[in-house]
Amino acid sequence: MNKKFFGLLSVILMGVVFLAIGVLTAADVPDKVLINNEGYAADKKGPVDFTHKKHTADHKVACAECHHVIKDGKNVWKEGEAVHKCKECHDPIEKKGSVDKLQNAYHNNCKDCHKKLAEGGKTTTAPLKKCNDCHQKKS
Ligand code: HEC
Ligand code: HEC
Ligand code: HEC
Ligand code: HEC
Repeated sequence: MNKKFFGLLSVILMGVVFLAIGVLTAADVPDKVLINNEGYAADKKGPVDFTHKKHTADHKVACAECHHVIKDGKNVWKEGEAVHKCKECHDPIEKKGSVDKLQNAYHNNCKDCHKKLAEGGKTTTAPLKKCNDCHQKKS
């Protein structure tokens, strides 16, 4: 095969790789996520405006604190891999086997961390007790 062809091919491939990385990093961490799942037995509370990027960038929380794929009790998910919706595994209605129902999965994730911060005297702004600091008021 000729050298020119390989040169061109590698340039194209590099382009594709950079494009893919660009798309991934741009799409990977949405600024804000509106958490508003359907399928609860009763939708009692308003949706939650989650400051996604602020948590990773300003609050320095690692992706794997919230995103996981559990195998043999360990989180094997790594940054860069596909992110699945919590609801894909945590059922909105009931606990299935050892996998908690959706509402508890969210509350345990969000509130456990905020609680630890509060107990460590590290924060006053991470919502914990006041429901509507996370939930929008239902109209
Ligand atoms: C740290 C943030 C946070 C706080 C504080 C919080 N929640 Fe939630 N809660 C969530 C998130 C996130 C969800 C998932 C919302 C969804 O799936 O639509 C949720 C879901 C729920 C749901 C199930 C969905 C629904 O609307 O019925 C209920 C009920 C609920 N919360 C009640 C409460 C109550 C009551 C309080 C106050 C005692 C509270 N939450 C405080 C974050 C929070
Ligand atoms: C403090 C918790 C938390 C951290 C830290 C976090 N995320 Fe998320 N992320 C969430 C929640 C909650 C959702 C919404 C999940 C759902 O709708 O089921 C989400 C959604 C996503 C989505 C899907 C967006 C969509 O609209 O479908 C991607 C991609 C993602 N996160 C990537 C990342 C990456 C990459 C990092 C680290 C740089 C990260 N997240 C850090 C909690 C977090
Ligand atoms: C691919 C499936 C899967 C996805 C997606 C997933 N989880 Fe989980 N989650 C699990 C499994 C499995 C466990 C471990 C259950 C056990 O203890 O055996 C778990 C455990 C947890 C726990 C600790 C146990 C508890 O309920 O206190 C929390 C909190 C949690 N998940 C929250 C979340 C949140 C929030 C999201 C979305 C950002 C999410 N999970 C996405 C499968 C998943
Ligand atoms: C592993 C730790 C951790 C987890 C998990 C976490 N947070 Fe936070 N959160 C923080 C920290 C740190 C702050 C900033 C506290 C401060 O500066 O006083 C914060 C602040 C907030 C604030 C105040 C506004 C802001 O962004 O500064 C909201 C609202 C909030 N979190 C919602 C949530 C919700 C909803 C979830 C679950 C989907 C969640 N958090 C999960 C660590 C966490």
